[in-house]
Amino acid sequence: MTKLGIIGGSGIYQMAGVENAQWETVETPWGAPSDAILTGQLHGTDVAFLPRHGRGHVYTPTNVPYRANIDALKRIGVTDIISVSACGSFQDHMAPGDFVLVDQFIDRTFAREKSFFGTGCVGHVSVAHPTCGRLSDACLQAGTDAGITMHTCGTYLAMEGPQFSSAAESKLYKSWGCDVIGMTNMPEAKLAREAEICYITVAMVTDYDSWHPDHGAVDVSDVIRTLQGNGTKAADLISRLPALLDQRPTTCPHGCDTALEHAIMTAPDH
Ligand code: ADE
Repeated sequence: MTKLGIIGGSGIYQMAGVENAQWETVETPWGAPSDAILTGQLHGTDVAFLPRHGRGHVYTPTNVPYRANIDALKRIGVTDIISVSACGSFQDHMAPGDFVLVDQFIDRTFAREKSFFGTGCVGHVSVAHPTCGRLSDACLQAGTDAGITMHTCGTYLAMEGPQFSSAAESKLYKSWGCDVIGMTNMPEAKLAREAEICYITVAMVTDYDSWHPDHGAVDVSDVIRTLQGNGTKAADLISRLPALLDQRPTTCPHGCDTALEHAIMTAPDH
């Protein structure tokens, strides 16, 4: 049965329309998650909403407790994660207000814990295809029905932050073929794969980063204005997902939920 997890990025700290809503505190061996988790039903489907930065935006991208967040969602039975996250764009045709369904990442973060493995048990999991095509298809349908301009694929450059990129970095990432840039979806996507949870990034474009000759540097007031509009659109997209995802296949056709069967693992050392 589907239990839909929603991780809300900057500007998304609440989820409207959830029946039997309650904020649940979940403990994990990795510490506390960013916040309590809002659980309930959305159009009959079990949902669990976690604000990535905490209500009040208390965690920087570096300090988000990524392992605790993914583990807490796993512990309460989440099968599928929709990560809705603000991003900058490296492509003219991916304009502020558009949503990009990310299918690849380049991970340039360097100050975060990136794996559940390493203490007592070593594991190497494939993230060649880090997002779930089934969730991507559902988000495409939901977003299109909501009238949002959707892009079906894109490569996300994950940077450490918290500062935005220099113009030289921005042009470099664009030259690498990246489509969008953000500060949070790595190691989140890697950890979701280790936890065998299907994961998709819905990247909501707020700006053109700092490569664009007509747009200059990232303007924080523009970003915040676009974020507010994107939040409304994201809520519309999410509210359409239960109808599209309620029939979960017994196993993910992309293998997300059996990732450890194909991983290289050592036996736990106890
Ligand atoms: N989030 C929103 N816009 C961004 C940008 N230009 N770079 C990194 N993270 C972002």
